Amino acid sequence: MYIGGYIRRAVCCLFVVTMVPINRAAVVNIKSKGAVGDGKTDDGPAILNAWKEACEGASPSSVLIPPGTYMSLSIVLSGPCKGPIEIQATGATIKAPPELAKFKTDSWIQIQSVDRFTMNGGTFDGQGQQIWHSTKCHDSQLTCQLPVNLRLSHVKNSLLKDFTSANSKHFHIALWRCDGSNFVNVTINAPGNSTNTDGIHIARLNGLNITNSNIKTGDDCISFGDGSKNVRIEQVTCGPGHGISIGSLGKYPNEEPVQGIWIKNCTISGTNNGVRIKTWPASHPGVASDIHFEDILMNKVGNPILIDQEYCPHYTCKKGAPSKVKISNVSFRKIRGTSTTKVAMKLACSAEAPCDNVEVADINLKFHGPAGGGGGPTKSECSNIKPKVVGENIPQVCLGGTS
Ligand SMILES: *[C@@H]1O[C@H](CO)[C@@H](O)[C@H](O)[C@H]1NC(C)=O
Ligand SMILES: *[C@@H]1O[C@H](CO)[C@@H](O)[C@H](O)[C@H]1NC(C)=O
Ligand SMILES: *[C@@H]1O[C@H](CO)[C@@H](O)[C@H](O)[C@H]1NC(C)=O
Ligand SMILES: *[C@@H]1O[C@H](CO)[C@@H](O)[C@H](O)[C@H]1NC(C)=O
Ligand SMILES: *[C@@H]1O[C@H](CO)[C@@H](O)[C@H](O)[C@H]1NC(C)=O
Repeated sequence: MYIGGYIRRAVCCLFVVTMVPINRAAVVNIKSKGAVGDGKTDDGPAILNAWKEACEGASPSSVLIPPGTYMSLSIVLSGPCKGPIEIQATGATIKAPPELAKFKTDSWIQIQSVDRFTMNGGTFDGQGQQIWHSTKCHDSQLTCQLPVNLRLSHVKNSLLKDFTSANSKHFHIALWRCDGSNFVNVTINAPGNSTNTDGIHIARLNGLNITNSNIKTGDDCISFGDGSKNVRIEQVTCGPGHGISIGSLGKYPNEEPVQGIWIKNCTISGTNNGVRIKTWPASHPGVASDIHFEDILMNKVGNPILIDQEYCPHYTCKKGAPSKVKISNVSFRKIRGTSTTKVAMKLACSAEAPCDNVEVADINLKFHGPAGGGGGPTKSECSNIKPKVVGENIPQVCLGGTS
């Protein structure tokens, strides 16, 4: 018996000993590839070389950016890799050069065609301050290609956690065809008056969770382009910025449906919109359905609840003609707090494709005037919609009926 036990234990230990090296990630430190880490020298080539070695090497593998301050020009980190790959950057700050002239593409750090990607820690500072002040770029965006801080394309089954994206020159994070993405404890930070610094923009992906994250920007907190499917956003705080936005949809032909969006247990503060769905007038056909907003606290938010099917910024479109994007199966539940606009709920649906099956339940939004005081009740405005109203609602929902 004793010997048997001993042998069993030995077998067990041998098993453990041989398993450990197989499971341990092969770590490639960017310093071993020549990274200087003085915050001035371009360490992009070192990051790229470390990525290449990790990506081709034994799996799983890890690119280590040790604590310190680095500068990097644009880099493209491409797969496919031999196995799961991680960027471990806890304690590191990576800075982009402030000058736009140093960028030739629309991304600063781009990651593409990777399966099972993890990003862990680090601060990615886009140093966009000069650009936000430059009227040149914002008057003629066609001639100015502004880089997104972090662009992921065809990155599947990813986990991005405990990291910060700051002061991007353009959107902070853009996801394109990234099925199965998870963001946990992500911080996005740019001033409220920074231009076009959307937090997370997604399009054409199936499966995304964003939890426990804090997003401060000068534009949309999270924005959904066409083809966004099965997205859950929970315990996210937004503000300053423009709030959480589905769309704008319908601008282009053959857009894919937006379907299966749950936004729950979030706090939105000091933004000029809360939760909204927006589509262009005179649009191409499209679908937005199965979209749910629940348990959302609004602190001094303009237009807290908004469906806007005549979205037409800067008069860039033909108002008048209705949108052809069909919005259906939407709910707004337990949305509470303060509105800085008297119209706290506006459900402006299309005359050509009226909204169907929209539920409004347990809304409690009080007016918060500009000087801080109250200023009478909030109200709602509705067109081309007959919502299902549940519970007590402030403001009362579509009291004037539909028009
Ligand atoms: C944003 O506001 C800050 C502080 O109020 C100010 O210093 C800065 O110039 C403003 N930036 C822009 C782009 O207006
Ligand atoms: C969240 O991320 C920050 C770094 O941005 C880290 O310091 C903190 O420990 C993380 N929180 C949790 C709960 O992991
Ligand atoms: C998101 O979380 C839900 C559970 O809350 C889970 O079922 C789903 O698989 C997750 N999605 C992704 C892309 O990991
Ligand atoms: C989120 O859920 C927690 C636990 O149920 C609750 O205490 C908190 O008030 C919720 N936050 C919001 C913004 O609804
Ligand atoms: C809306 O919900 C109804 C009932 O659950 C369902 O039959 C319909 O297919 C849904 N519409 C869309 C566009 O998903």
